[in-house]
Amino acid sequence: AALQLLAKDVIAVLGPQSSAIAHIISHAANKLQVPLISFAASDPTLSSLEYPYFVRATQSDYYQMSAVASIISQYQWREVIAIYVDDDYGRGGITALGDALAKKMSKIAYKAKLPPGAGRTAIQDMLMQVNEMESRVYVVHVNPDSGMTVFSAAKSLGMMSSGYVWIATDWLSAVIDSSGHVASDATENTQGVIMLHQHVADSGIQQSLLPKLNSLTRKGNRSSFSSYTAHAYDSVWLVAHAVEQFLSAGNAVSFSANQNLQAIKGSSLQLDSLRVLNNGDKLLEKVLQANFTGVSGQVQFTLDRNLIHPAYDILNIGGTGFRTIGYWSNFSGLSVAAPENLHSVPLNSTTNDIQLHSVIWPGQTAEKPRGWVFPYHGKLLRIGVPLRTSYNEFVMQDDGPDGVKGFSVDVFKSAISLLPYPVGCTFVLFGDGLKNPSYSDLVQKVSENVSNISISLSLKNYCTIFIKLDFIHFVLLFWYHSVL
Ligand SMILES: *[C@@H]1O[C@H](CO)[C@@H](O)[C@H](O)[C@H]1NC(C)=O
Ligand SMILES: *[C@@H]1O[C@H](CO)[C@@H](O)[C@H](O)[C@H]1NC(C)=O
Ligand SMILES: *[C@@H]1O[C@H](CO)[C@@H](O)[C@H](O)[C@H]1NC(C)=O
Ligand SMILES: *[C@@H]1O[C@H](CO)[C@@H](O)[C@H](O)[C@H]1NC(C)=O
Repeated sequence: AALQLLAKDVIAVLGPQSSAIAHIISHAANKLQVPLISFAASDPTLSSLEYPYFVRATQSDYYQMSAVASIISQYQWREVIAIYVDDDYGRGGITALGDALAKKMSKIAYKAKLPPGAGRTAIQDMLMQVNEMESRVYVVHVNPDSGMTVFSAAKSLGMMSSGYVWIATDWLSAVIDSSGHVASDATENTQGVIMLHQHVADSGIQQSLLPKLNSLTRKGNRSSFSSYTAHAYDSVWLVAHAVEQFLSAGNAVSFSANQNLQAIKGSSLQLDSLRVLNNGDKLLEKVLQANFTGVSGQVQFTLDRNLIHPAYDILNIGGTGFRTIGYWSNFSGLSVAAPENLHSVPLNSTTNDIQLHSVIWPGQTAEKPRGWVFPYHGKLLRIGVPLRTSYNEFVMQDDGPDGVKGFSVDVFKSAISLLPYPVGCTFVLFGDGLKNPSYSDLVQKVSENVSNISISLSLKNYCTIFIKLDFIHFVLLFWYHSVL
């Protein structure tokens, strides 16, 4: 359809909405030197170097993923699971997320991909698989069509409960925006989710346009423009301004035959009827020189062809709607103040002390989830226990199921039973029982990750507990000595 449209001597194309299709049409737009202005294709890999005639009139997911990484870093989570659709949009976004997380010393622990248009069964299987992993922080970057199924399936699997963290990119706010008001099943399945929404700075233009928009759509009155609507509207003006300037600079609209395409005569695509826009580069230049105030804010491009001032709202779904818990902008990072108010004043640490308002997480809890658990089918936590020849009251070999007993073992077992999730552990004796083993050797074995001998605390999170246990042991030994 796009090629048929291009055969009608068009001078600019608005759209498409999907990044995957934008990749395909960009090839044709390049060949025909026709600017392709997309207000929805956010895949960062649609770079200007490969596709010079592609103009992104919306924010690149490069910025959105920086925002997601800032949120993750703000809550001090180290590993996340990325759930994404395996197409250009999904892959491009998740690659950007990986890069952004690396800058914050975090990472994607697992990439769970879904085929485009995945059904409920495929989604459920994927969720059951990621549910057995250590990380409990999920970043969902999918298409609106299957997106809500991810949440309804997660809910039926008990994964929308306390301890879980869900961060959705702006596809979710698009689903909620496009329904005009918040649909009840959408919020029912997404309680506690954090979602991003492209920030639309309030400009006077919106208030005068809203009544017109509301009379065009029959879905009830909106109180604000969605970012899609705003960028779509501004794209039309972007092209109109550019064409006007192109013509007033003395350029004429004319086309010429393309040698390469002529060669493919006879194909059913009728490529030979496609003609190249003369001076297409001049028109492109006018598009990129735009500088006007639109519904979405200032429409102007940076030298690397991104819209200026990329910014996102950070929303927390709860009850029958959502609350804004803060903002992210390329300029100021996370803040509770709207980014346009920060552009004018220089940032200082006191103005940006609080970075986000409080969140109600899944399971109706205000307590920040830890972000990880011991995997259900993970290895048992192996506790290295020194087989000492003295101070046996603290630890000694035993015939019971644990294989060890003593004061330190009792303290450890009561401490671990206080954790809010079950932890399987096994005690492993260290030493030959003839002489006291060396603590340095024991710690050394842990750090070397030795698994075939008595000590194997192989996962990094477990080391903390081990070291704490050992510390208690040392303290008690010291106390015992002083008493004696
Ligand atoms: C929308 O707003 C107008 C004026 O504010 C009002 O007359 C109309 O009833 C509203 N429509 C709906 C569907 O709420
Ligand atoms: C863009 O327009 C604003 C106001 O119209 C002006 O102040 C600014 O200098 C312009 N910027 C560029 C790069 O032309
Ligand atoms: C985002 O910030 C970086 C670093 O300050 C800057 O180089 C880049 O141009 C900014 N991007 C936009 C679109 O303003
Ligand atoms: C920081 O900003 C606050 C609020 O705008 C202002 O009162 C304070 O003087 C500023 N501090 C510095 C060091 O500029």
